[in-house]
Amino acid sequence: MDELDIWPTFGFRKNPYGTEELRPDSEGGILLVGRDLEVRKLQRRWYSSSQIATIEGPVGVGKTSLAGVAAYRAMQTRIDLKSDLIVPLNRTIQFQQDTDELSKKILFEISQSLLRHETTLRNCDHNVPSLNDLRSWVNNPIFKGGSAGVGPVSLGKSTPSANSSSGFSESGFEEHLTYVLQETFPADKTGSFVGIIDNLELLRTVGAARDCLDVLRDTVFRLPGMRWVLVGASGIVKTAVSVPRLSGKVASPIQLEPVADDSIEALIEKRLTLYSQGGHPRPPVTPAAFQYLHTIAGKNLRETFKHAQDIALWLAERVEDGKGIPEDPVETWIREQADYDIIAAQMTVAAQEVFDQLTANGGSMPAAQLAEDPKTYAQKVRYRVRILEKLNLVETVGTEDDLRFKIVRLTALGWFTHHIRSL
Ligand SMILES: Nc1ncnc2c1ncn2[C@@H]1O[C@H](COP(=O)(O)OP(=O)(O)O)[C@@H](O)[C@H]1O
Ligand SMILES: [Mg+2]
Repeated sequence: MDELDIWPTFGFRKNPYGTEELRPDSEGGILLVGRDLEVRKLQRRWYSSSQIATIEGPVGVGKTSLAGVAAYRAMQTRIDLKSDLIVPLNRTIQFQQDTDELSKKILFEISQSLLRHETTLRNCDHNVPSLNDLRSWVNNPIFKGGSAGVGPVSLGKSTPSANSSSGFSESGFEEHLTYVLQETFPADKTGSFVGIIDNLELLRTVGAARDCLDVLRDTVFRLPGMRWVLVGASGIVKTAVSVPRLSGKVASPIQLEPVADDSIEALIEKRLTLYSQGGHPRPPVTPAAFQYLHTIAGKNLRETFKHAQDIALWLAERVEDGKGIPEDPVETWIREQADYDIIAAQMTVAAQEVFDQLTANGGSMPAAQLAEDPKTYAQKVRYRVRILEKLNLVETVGTEDDLRFKIVRLTALGWFTHHIRSL
């Protein structure tokens, strides 16, 4: 045992407060708590329609985890029933500016997932054609290294041979993949892969997002045997997809709210149990304290996990320094994070208004919504946001190119300040 690893001293084999998203695998399937309704909502969309599903919600609320685990659970159910499979792609795909590169990544992930799940698919009576060509393509160093594209993605051309060395540039790859998908998931059945494309806000402007979706619409979204989930920060997906070209193709977003308060203790208990080393674990942040922290952190799960980790380290150091464990670790730790009197003294009344708007809205809003009229943002709101930024109470993501994609959100310190002031 590494003596600098603090978790065994608390009785855990690994960090139970890790902030990584839950993956579409059995561990993710166990750890996702409090989302039964949302899982059903998503699955219903996949089973009942070929429309593209969308999820919106604050950063850190659990969007990526929900989408992945919902797909994994759908797969498990179908395996048990031995019926048409729903299969998550191995990995979540991130939106990116370079649409060709993005399409290429998507095709690559689909191929990898076909190879990975070949046996399972066959066991559930899917007629998977030979994957030899696909395998040699995927293992081609040019493809893997990412130095050469698969060419413009264009579906519906003649089928070139996988062996031709110029197969990539002639886009034979998509041809072949289309064929494999069609055979594996015939149109009269309900099986499919589920592809999750995550963090639409990475595209920075509504225009860029729409351009990207436009390209995907005519390429990868047309692939047979696929269901899609697009995920993005609050307010963004809805804006990006409300164009005539996409209407009818994209379902209206599932607005993801924070996990309900009465599920938070069960949520953390699942992790504490799964990662406990047996015996009697002594969690540095108890389930009750975790729930309290979750409320203070604006019900942002990722932030809550991060704080719990920090508190665990802080406690381990206190013990080492002979200071012992305080009666109320969460409250004591929060008070040590900043000098809240100084913050209060430097906050202007106008900045306070913006701050209150943010706390009332779950902590995060597109800049465009902070100004009644986006045209007044520059004169009025920007200056107030700057003050809050200087005090480290808010941060902004995105550029001023498009205020609908510029997100203003409270920092951890922002939430702690809100908490201290509300006492
Ligand atoms: N329903 C849930 N049950 C348990 N843990 C969750 C749940 N949803 C999210 N998490 C955890 O919360 C954190 C944030 O989740 P994530 O899916 O990455 O959020 P988002 O994609 O909205 O930013 C991760 O550590 C993830 O493991
Ligand atoms: Mg995410």
